[in-house]
Amino acid sequence: MLSLQSLLSLPSFLVATLVGHALAVPNGFIDSDKNGDNNGPDLAAVLTGGERCNGDEIRSIREGFYEMNELFQAALQMDWDGDAERDYFGRPDRVMNFTDMVESNILRASQYSNLKGSLTRNPDIHVRCDDPYNKCREGNKKDGSHVAYNIGNEPHIVFCNEYFELDPLGKAMNDASNDASESMELMEYYNRATAWARQVMHIAGIGEAIVEEVVLRNYTSGSWTTRMYRAPMNTSYLAGVPNEHPDTGGPNDIEALKYAYGATRAKLVAGLSTQEPYDAPNNADTYALYAQARYIIQEKGFYPSMPQIAFNNELGLLTNQELQEGEKKEYACFNTLDVAPSNSKTNAIGAPISSSALVLRPNRDSASGYILLGVISYSFALSLIG
Ligand SMILES: *[C@@H]1O[C@H](CO)[C@@H](O)[C@H](O)[C@H]1NC(C)=O
Ligand SMILES: *[C@@H]1O[C@H](CO)[C@@H](O)[C@H](O)[C@H]1NC(C)=O
Ligand SMILES: *[C@@H]1O[C@H](CO)[C@@H](O)[C@H](O)[C@H]1NC(C)=O
Repeated sequence: MLSLQSLLSLPSFLVATLVGHALAVPNGFIDSDKNGDNNGPDLAAVLTGGERCNGDEIRSIREGFYEMNELFQAALQMDWDGDAERDYFGRPDRVMNFTDMVESNILRASQYSNLKGSLTRNPDIHVRCDDPYNKCREGNKKDGSHVAYNIGNEPHIVFCNEYFELDPLGKAMNDASNDASESMELMEYYNRATAWARQVMHIAGIGEAIVEEVVLRNYTSGSWTTRMYRAPMNTSYLAGVPNEHPDTGGPNDIEALKYAYGATRAKLVAGLSTQEPYDAPNNADTYALYAQARYIIQEKGFYPSMPQIAFNNELGLLTNQELQEGEKKEYACFNTLDVAPSNSKTNAIGAPISSSALVLRPNRDSASGYILLGVISYSFALSLIG
């Protein structure tokens, strides 16, 4: 791979062609080298793919990724007695068996912003805008549609139109903190870095979650026990609440679960005694919102404590449909999962989807390959002269 040094030593028109083309190519390598990047932090992974993303979209995806790193850096040192930890992961006596898992998840996510010389490498992320599952428009006008979704808990993230309407981290921070009526509301700070953070937690190499299984202990007596193991992280949902779609037995009879997106539902999942203590640690959005809260504390010096939830009246909460609906303005489809199962259909549609993006470099389309070849021979020629 061409080093940054050799790139910089090229005539600028060639560099512009190469970089400009790399931004526009539908498939292949779109981010700068893992070990050298002039504009952003030194990253432990690269972004690849970019199917059907235009240049502005690629830029917004990449900047959001950089900004996500700032969120996770702010979240690294956890204080299990702190407000944000209790609100989003649960009281210390409830979450105690899962604090290690939570901290490891955040640590792995934070390692995207590595650190020259570190051996840690995260899975490269294949980003795309072509919506191979036709899922971006799931939802409805009132409830919103997906901002982004993951495919198969693999490092594939599809970015939807709504992502590109989210503010950059800095703007969201300034706008919300400067408005007295908004500054304490966590969701007012929601931005593209938060959206990224949730997607990253769905990647198997990053977010681990608990699966609890019932196993029969003794067939004769019928006694049973449960067994826990770890699996990739999805999204928890509020249990014990009425299902919005009555069971009609029809083909479109899809269960509408109340997935724990948004601060209200994330806090309910962490605080209600009817939830499992691992429901909050299992919930990707919880990590994103928590990291966002920690970033606000770091940058602005206060904890945005709203929405506040009255856990002293659990019965009231469990019967409060309106509260369970979550935020008034939903930034995403709240009733479907944002992880799509991977299947062979997807492989056929998007070029490099079947394998991790680690092998994407050879997948560069032939035109950019030729340009690169040209650049390499050019620098080779230079080295002969020099
Ligand atoms: C933590 O795990 C232990 C051992 O499995 C279990 O007995 C205990 O009830 C758990 N505590 C909580 C708060 O979940
Ligand atoms: C998340 O979803 C995948 C795919 O359905 C599944 O294999 C995995 O067990 C799930 N993780 C958890 C924690 O339930
Ligand atoms: C299973 O349950 C039966 C009936 O209660 C009992 O007789 C047997 O000893 C149990 N077996 C084991 C392995 O615990």
